[in-house]
Amino acid sequence: MTEYSTEVAAAIEELGGVTLPDNIQLLEVVGRGTCSIVFKAQHRGEVVALKVYRPETVEKYRKKFDLNIAVFEMSQNRKFRKIPELTPFSAKPIMVLGHDGKQSVSFMQEFIEGRPLAEVGRENKGVPVSVLEAGEEIARAAEQAGLRDLDLDYRNVMVQSNNGRWLPVIHDFNQIPGDHPANKAFMGLFKKSSRPNYEFVREWLTFSEECRAG
Ligand SMILES: Nc1ncnc2c1ncn2[C@@H]1O[C@H](COP(=O)(O)OP(=O)(O)O)[C@@H](O)[C@H]1O
Ligand SMILES: [Mg+2]
Repeated sequence: MTEYSTEVAAAIEELGGVTLPDNIQLLEVVGRGTCSIVFKAQHRGEVVALKVYRPETVEKYRKKFDLNIAVFEMSQNRKFRKIPELTPFSAKPIMVLGHDGKQSVSFMQEFIEGRPLAEVGRENKGVPVSVLEAGEEIARAAEQAGLRDLDLDYRNVMVQSNNGRWLPVIHDFNQIPGDHPANKAFMGLFKKSSRPNYEFVREWLTFSEECRAG
């Protein structure tokens, strides 16, 4: 039986319990999102990020969209990462767990050694210019590749220092594009409106200006 820290134990309780294979150990809580709690974990001796979805989110995606959220998010992550210009700006997807119903629905990703963009922006009184430039590049390359409605909200971005330059890394891919078949429920009546990528990236700049203003 693994001994968890108070923080990890509290997160497990918040998720209504977590069931994982023996070769995965939860080490720390690294973030909380609306859909999931993200842990730093160990898998076969390697450090990884494990995103364990909240049961209500798993249910919502299944009922409303007929999707397994972890499978969907991994496929979006893969599509994004497959674009050569976008590869350096994404966490590497590793695997999905729990599609058999025996374990908690989770998505294992490369662990990003970095910091949330929102934190760095506030601390530095602005978003690093290299991150804003990379954001424009991401929006352009994604658009060109036909990847729409990515969840490029600045709160979904981590920044990583790469040879002395801050660069953004996208890790959150659970946004269902407006033109995705799963969004055509109810004869299009409640179809989510599309949100172009460049609009999100423009918000990185707005956020940066807010940080500068203090
Ligand atoms: N691959 C990762 N490596 C390190 N930290 C991560 C990783 N993925 C997510 N996090 C942390 O967890 C937080 C929530 O993750 P996110 O993917 O936005 O979850 P949600 O889909 O629930 O919104 C992030 O803000 C970040 O701090
Ligand atoms: Mg998020």
